[in-house]
Amino acid sequence: MYFVVDDAGAVAGRSAGWIAEAIREAVGQTGGCSLALAGGNTPRRCYERLPALPGVPWDRVEFFFGDERAVPQDSPDSNYRMAWETFLSKVPAGAERIHRFEVERADLGTIAREYEALLPAALDVLILGIGPDGHTASLFPHSPALAERERLVVPVTGGEPLVQRLTITPPVIERAARILVLATGSAKAEAVARALEGEEDPAATPAALARNGTWILDRDAAAGLRSPPGPVAGS
Ligand code: 6PG
Repeated sequence: MYFVVDDAGAVAGRSAGWIAEAIREAVGQTGGCSLALAGGNTPRRCYERLPALPGVPWDRVEFFFGDERAVPQDSPDSNYRMAWETFLSKVPAGAERIHRFEVERADLGTIAREYEALLPAALDVLILGIGPDGHTASLFPHSPALAERERLVVPVTGGEPLVQRLTITPPVIERAARILVLATGSAKAEAVARALEGEEDPAATPAALARNGTWILDRDAAAGLRSPPGPVAGS
């Protein structure tokens, strides 16, 4: 399912509301919520809006990351830093419930094994982005990680910046109870169309793994879709 809204600001607002509602629903059902965050730039404006939203049981949320670059946590390329600066530092998210990839502490294989032991059998909420090449998290087209069916987290190298990374694997995406994909800008239009309407080929378009999630797109990112909804969904 996808929603098309006017622009990046509307994507930020609509996505923040979706995340808040997903957390409320998960906590209402089980008393808690495991939330995995996307990195990159697109979620930034969405995350900035989260602290102001009312009635979100932040103190019941376990925070994870869908992927992380192997950079210091204070690096401008750190997904943790972006999430911390935009909202984790502004909501009652106890440090013990924020599960950062501690990439500086050991080799990435060890960190991957330790992190996957923290993950639940199925995430309650998974936030993802999409790259112009169709990647999601740090699952890049034709990566061997796309064939991984046992491990939940693996080290990879790729992306922009071209660095070593840790990423969740396809089973984690397939098992997530609720998935939100955010995309803005014309640079994403072709990849969005492939992911949502093309032949379902995760090897070529890893974001197709999230095809059955909720996608919130601005008009530019939706421009390649065969049948974008008529009137712009609420923005
Ligand atoms: C990362 C992200 C990655 C991101 C896409 C889109 O660590 O790079 O997890 O999957 O979501 O690359 O990035 P932008 O939002 O910056 O376009």
